[in-house]
Amino acid sequence: MKPVISDSILYIGADDHDIDLFENQYPVPDGVSYNSYLILDEKVAVMDTVDRRRTETWFDALTKALNGRDPDYLIISHMEPDHAYNIGLLAEKYPQMKLVGNAKTFAMLPRFFDASLTGRAVTVADGDSLPLGRHTLTFYTAPMVHWPEVMVSYESEEKLLFSADAFGRFGALDVDMPWLDEARRYYLNIVGKYGVQVQALLKKAAGLDVKKILPLHGPVLEGDLSPYLEKYDLWSRYVPEEKGVALAYCSIHGNTEKAALLLRDFLAGAGETVEVFDLCRCDMSAAVAAAFRYDRLVLACPTYDGGLFPPMEDFLSHLKSKNFQGRAAALVENGSWAPISAKLMGEKLSAMKDVTVLTDPVTVASAVKPETEAALKALAENLSRR
Ligand code: FEO
Repeated sequence: MKPVISDSILYIGADDHDIDLFENQYPVPDGVSYNSYLILDEKVAVMDTVDRRRTETWFDALTKALNGRDPDYLIISHMEPDHAYNIGLLAEKYPQMKLVGNAKTFAMLPRFFDASLTGRAVTVADGDSLPLGRHTLTFYTAPMVHWPEVMVSYESEEKLLFSADAFGRFGALDVDMPWLDEARRYYLNIVGKYGVQVQALLKKAAGLDVKKILPLHGPVLEGDLSPYLEKYDLWSRYVPEEKGVALAYCSIHGNTEKAALLLRDFLAGAGETVEVFDLCRCDMSAAVAAAFRYDRLVLACPTYDGGLFPPMEDFLSHLKSKNFQGRAAALVENGSWAPISAKLMGEKLSAMKDVTVLTDPVTVASAVKPETEAALKALAENLSRR
């Protein structure tokens, strides 16, 4: 469903169900939306453009919504091409239109587009306002949420926060789906590294009377906004959402998998919530999101070429790049002659902020034996006590 905002603020974005990987890395089985909005007042403002994949759809929606008028301003919240790709085409079509951004926006713009566009720049700073008539936009910089030039816009007449990437989620708007799961996967994989900067944005937003949040992806958020704000506060402070275990494993011949699944059963038997990820097959971004969601993480990995089996190496690299921190972790390793994967996983986790690695990893010396089962059971009991 296309969002309905008001008579004078229209949704002109587009769904994309053809895309397989967002940013060429994140699976989006329910598609994604590139949101763009039009404010019709004495002055007309376009709020961002869309990805190149939906240029034609967007121009059609814009032209219809303009109903014969010309835009006075293009507000550029974010220069990433999933929103900014059509800046050049729009500016060419409406040569009198001004481009509104901050100093960082206009430092970046010529790297993507013809430098002559900067001659049409209206440069705003944090807290500056742009009156459009009945509506007024006030701009707040939000550096690194998710690029350095990002800014959000608050519209005071209808109390709207145009929030750029913040509060977005994967999933097209014509799919009936809850916000939380795909917002979590979106946030932690795309903005997760920048918790400090998100906290700064939340503090700015706390001073505003916001009735609706209009992100650049996913649905317009309205009604009680506190559940969304609370999740963003937790995620950006790296606080687990709930008690539970994310169990990520990789396995070459099935023995490490058997150990991981036994551990899952012991944990579930102890009443724990457990989400299991086979890193050789799963969507890595879902495993990353789960690692942040729960307060405990278990990694199970065979030794391979004297190091880690590559899917685990990859997963740990993702966690590090997203600033994974403040969790307890337990390890299961496998190795038929010189197991070393627990040591290597432990070193990588210990280098992350406030990650406590439980001592005494379980070693599967090839296949799961009765003594391995007993060790896994003890590990589950140990984890359940935390
Ligand atoms: Fe949706 Fe950072 O762009």
